[in-house]
Amino acid sequence: AIVSNGELHMATNAAFPPYEMSADDGGYEGIDVEVAELIAQKLGLTLVVDDMEFGSVITSVQSGKEDIAMAGLTVNEERKKNIDFTDSYAKGVQVIIVPEDSDIQTAADLGNNKMIGCQQGTTGSIYCQDDYGEDKVTDYTNGAKAIEALKAGKVDAVVIDSEPAKQFVAKNEGLKILDTSYVEEDYAIGVSKDNPALCEAINSALNELIADGSVQQIIDKYINANE
Ligand code: ARG
Repeated sequence: AIVSNGELHMATNAAFPPYEMSADDGGYEGIDVEVAELIAQKLGLTLVVDDMEFGSVITSVQSGKEDIAMAGLTVNEERKKNIDFTDSYAKGVQVIIVPEDSDIQTAADLGNNKMIGCQQGTTGSIYCQDDYGEDKVTDYTNGAKAIEALKAGKVDAVVIDSEPAKQFVAKNEGLKILDTSYVEEDYAIGVSKDNPALCEAINSALNELIADGSVQQIIDKYINANE
């Protein structure tokens, strides 16, 4: 058995539309949730979505409490020390959100003593701390809170993945996304290093779903169809 009880537990932070968010029926929806459903189906498992702070997603898989991490999760070398990643199923781009009348026009302008809001534990936060200094970054537990801080003038910009950024900007007046993308990255599924059989099974199911167009269909349903 690659998991216990026939259940595939997915660690996520369901405040990251269109990848994962609460659904009207009380459950969860989004690209990651639907892809995970199909993977679970292929493996004959029942998907259980476990919502938590983003900062706990990787550690919960590492400790074996959760089976997979799917959270618009960017592959990077630091994380590879703690968990294994499947092949990538989507691209992510870190973008910069500012008030419409902001004097920030490029990523370089963030260096002009600007305060940047990020989601705690994310790559966006890490890049900003590296590029502009820890004291220039304020971390929030989720993207919506960072956006609230931006609207309240507590931070000058928010750095976050592009698709959630589009949704936040669409729902909040007076904000815009800068044209320049800050960093480009790959999203993949995280699995415990102690369960290589699960990683292999997830990866082959994922690759079948990529090959037969199912993953693209889900992405189109949530993203391209609305553009
Ligand atoms: N792609 C970024 C990262 O991996 C942000 C992911 C945030 N995901 C979430 N579900 N809140 O660090």
